[in-house]
Amino acid sequence: MAKICLCLTAKTVKRNLEILDKYRKFTDIAELRVDCLAPDERLNIRRFPELAGIPVILTIRRDIDGGYYTGGEGARVNLMASGLAYASADSRFNFAYVDIEDDFDVPSLEEAARTFGTRIIRSYHNLQGVPENLSAKLKSMQRARDEIVKVSLSVKTTSDVLRVLKASRARLGQDKILLCMGHYGIYSRILSEKFGSFLTYCSALSESEVPGASGQLDVQELAELYRFRKITKKTKIYGVVGNPLTSTVSPWFFNTVFGLENTDAVYVPFPSDSIKGFYEIAKELDIQGLSITVPYKEDVLSGLVGSSPVVQSIGACNTLYRIPEGWYGENTDCTGFSDSLLNFLGKKNLKNKKITIVGAGGAAHAVVAEIFRLGGKALILNRTQIKARNVASRYKFKWGGLDGQGIEIMSKYNDIIIQTSSAGMEGYDDTDPLELYSFSGDEIVMDLIYTPPVTPFLKRAAEAGCLTINGYDMVIRQACLQYLCFMEKEIPQQLLSRVNSTGANKWSRIRTG
Ligand code: ATR
Repeated sequence: MAKICLCLTAKTVKRNLEILDKYRKFTDIAELRVDCLAPDERLNIRRFPELAGIPVILTIRRDIDGGYYTGGEGARVNLMASGLAYASADSRFNFAYVDIEDDFDVPSLEEAARTFGTRIIRSYHNLQGVPENLSAKLKSMQRARDEIVKVSLSVKTTSDVLRVLKASRARLGQDKILLCMGHYGIYSRILSEKFGSFLTYCSALSESEVPGASGQLDVQELAELYRFRKITKKTKIYGVVGNPLTSTVSPWFFNTVFGLENTDAVYVPFPSDSIKGFYEIAKELDIQGLSITVPYKEDVLSGLVGSSPVVQSIGACNTLYRIPEGWYGENTDCTGFSDSLLNFLGKKNLKNKKITIVGAGGAAHAVVAEIFRLGGKALILNRTQIKARNVASRYKFKWGGLDGQGIEIMSKYNDIIIQTSSAGMEGYDDTDPLELYSFSGDEIVMDLIYTPPVTPFLKRAAEAGCLTINGYDMVIRQACLQYLCFMEKEIPQQLLSRVNSTGANKWSRIRTG
């Protein structure tokens, strides 16, 4: 089973040991990053394995490989030798592994390591991207049978991740560590077992002064939320696809539910630059169900073999699940939205309500369809007016731009204002898409965004005295409906209450890169 390796990147040995002690129960292996230690601290590394009490990797990462070591190669070799010297007959007192680069050639040092049971991790770093023919590279790197080969690659696209996955599949049976650095590679760090990686590197991100690598996850989050150590070849994979997908409640929600009911499943963030590329990843990883978010709710339709009447009528899909022929599309935004709004209003329909909708993307499609179904009258305002017109004309609603003219029409459509655009969302921009409009304080205002909990738009509405609600309640309601699609059963109410009581705020801390 893949192991959790905690990277220790503090400036002193003492601080590294403090961090290790704090996160010990989540850690299988520690990596002492000697290059991060202050120069005088580097003299004290020999006793580290004994003090750590768990297997430790000795690593002195050069700056050209993304590390902090800037000295000469001779001094680095001496430092490495000092860590491996005076080897003990009790192997627990020696470094269990030493990370030696592919272009490093000091046979005497390697010989000394082998003699006392220190396993060599032969590493290759490429900060530029994924090399051609990676599987051949993996094969050629291995110099002795007991070596573990490690490739640490910057992935710039989803197809880069796919190439790493395919190369790993071509080298089944080889002990290897695969590291997809960068935002698009984050799921490879959670699904190490599925990617065929011997371990995953993570950091104690909540500790101060600890530099973490790009896309690295927090050790506690990996162990507790994603239940990394329980992921086996059989574990079913679910997740959320979007871009940039910097912050989403769904991994917290689904993994908490899976954990409480002890389901052998994991829910993973899949930031992707292309939905087409992602469909290939989904096939390779045998993903069972997906939530789809910005900006793919419409693009995703091209890969479906079937879809519900709701998806067909509004042309947007936020849920994918498997049927024997392939992917089936559903839209849980619609019911999630209307249940949340009606519950907030304490009403059963929207008859006689005049409503402005801001935005005309995938989320707006669901909102507009529900307003029509519930008897409301709407005005759709969008930055790109033609898109507002396209959505509005289906329902004979009014439309306009986010300009003076559009704002003027709003005076007749301001019982309720619903913000569906991505303006104000974390990872996008913090603009207020309706800045030309002055709230009277009588409007009821909903913003579908929940990260941040209060957008500049919602803040201004609340300050003017409006009743406001963000998208958190809606997202939980639609996630419950997604769970029904994925698992073919409802979440028991008691379990849902427990999920909510584990802290509705907790999700906002979840990093997705
Ligand atoms: P989703 O599926 O979540 O609706 P989308 O389909 O990408 O995402 O749509 C995003 C919506 O946010 C669009 O209506 C977009 O306006 P354009 O059609 O003009 O692109 C809107 N949007 C994004 N950034 C915006 C901004 N800064 N100001 C106003 N509208 C914005």
